[in-house]
Amino acid sequence: MMQPDPTVPLLIEKEKKRQESTLTLIASENFVSAQVAAATGSLLTNKYAEGLPGKRYYGGCHIIDEIESLAIERAKSLFKVAWANVQPHSGSQANAALMMAVLKPGDKILGFNLAHGGHLTHGSPVNFSGRLYQASFYGVNPDTGYIDWESVAKKAKKERPAIIICGASAYSRDWDYIQLRAIADEVAAFLWADISHPAGLISQGLLNDPFPYCHFVTTTTHKTLRGPRGGLLLMGQDFDNPFGKTNRNGLLHKMSALLDAAVFPGTQGGPLEHSIAAKAVAFYEAMTHSFKCYARQVQKNAHVMAQAFLDEGYSILSGGTDNHLLLLDLYKQNITGKQAETVLEQADIITNRNLVPFDKNTPQVTSGIRLGTAAVTTRGLKEKDMLLIVEWIDYLLKNKDKDSQIKKVKQMVNAYMCRFPLTTVDGSVTE
Ligand SMILES: Cc1ncc(COP(=O)(O)O)c(C=O)c1O
Repeated sequence: MMQPDPTVPLLIEKEKKRQESTLTLIASENFVSAQVAAATGSLLTNKYAEGLPGKRYYGGCHIIDEIESLAIERAKSLFKVAWANVQPHSGSQANAALMMAVLKPGDKILGFNLAHGGHLTHGSPVNFSGRLYQASFYGVNPDTGYIDWESVAKKAKKERPAIIICGASAYSRDWDYIQLRAIADEVAAFLWADISHPAGLISQGLLNDPFPYCHFVTTTTHKTLRGPRGGLLLMGQDFDNPFGKTNRNGLLHKMSALLDAAVFPGTQGGPLEHSIAAKAVAFYEAMTHSFKCYARQVQKNAHVMAQAFLDEGYSILSGGTDNHLLLLDLYKQNITGKQAETVLEQADIITNRNLVPFDKNTPQVTSGIRLGTAAVTTRGLKEKDMLLIVEWIDYLLKNKDKDSQIKKVKQMVNAYMCRFPLTTVDGSVTE
């Protein structure tokens, strides 16, 4: 008889202890519910199901079809949209499929500068998107830290891209989809929103709604949406013309077929049905009142955290946040992002270093750190806890070379986080 692997379960247990005892401020992470975790770890991983519900290339798919159809219907209800494909294995896969469906190699794309908070898949030269397509970028205004829509319009008129990408990994402000659509219309470009970060907040109406204005929307399912690691492709009700008129069902049908084909067989093989089941659970959870309270608390916590840093004299990009994250610029403090990330991790406060716009340091070193509240809010932390976190971070940055001080904070962090055990996280946040 085969002996069970003795090593991986031990490592999973170790990782669970790490997650439990540390303070996760990584803006792209979250803690899934027990039901999402169970579906992700389920025997659905055994099944091959190339194709779509009702149109598979394998037998034995009738239950898988029910699961995937449920995930699709729930995604559509949650975001109030006309069409969804739940198969992308990740956010990057969703983006690759979308670009394959809409663009030809060599086409021009216009995205948000990676060094200002954009994502690799929006045209970076080290990514397929920058290799296959001709990318140009818009950025933030150096004085305000906000994206300046007029400069986006100028850039779009100069470059005349086939698609304009909005969405970011490290931008704390909301997006003006109405302006962006007007710009896209003027240069006859498609408009695509990658809402990977704020999807959970958008689903609750807490940020501007991209769907009436963007031709396409992609997202990850594992950030503020609090589902399993994965991606999602969506199209709104008013696909071809949000301002009314014209034959939208015909176009919607045509585009959805192109997008489906770009996912499979275009960029993927068999879908991860265990992840798709977990997405279905996450969409269900995101339609509950408790998730609405959670998403509101995420936003409140980020706001309180940003204000507390400002009160301590720190500089935050754009001076605050509308969503779940903020970008601290530590240049004034004469401390690099790398040093900050290291000292915070020594005290079990987990963050990531991040370039700030017009950064004088390299991407490996950086001048900033990115902080997000999605994960700690799931653990149950509220406004007063944000003040304590800011106090700890401030203290650590000011005492970054003092081992005994760092150790003291680490003990406090570990004791504090034990009060919010992972095993009892059911995803509910009360008002
Ligand atoms: C805006 C944006 N798009 C796409 C992705 C890619 O997601 P994944 O890591 O699932 O490929 C990310 C992930 O950080 C992101 O922030």
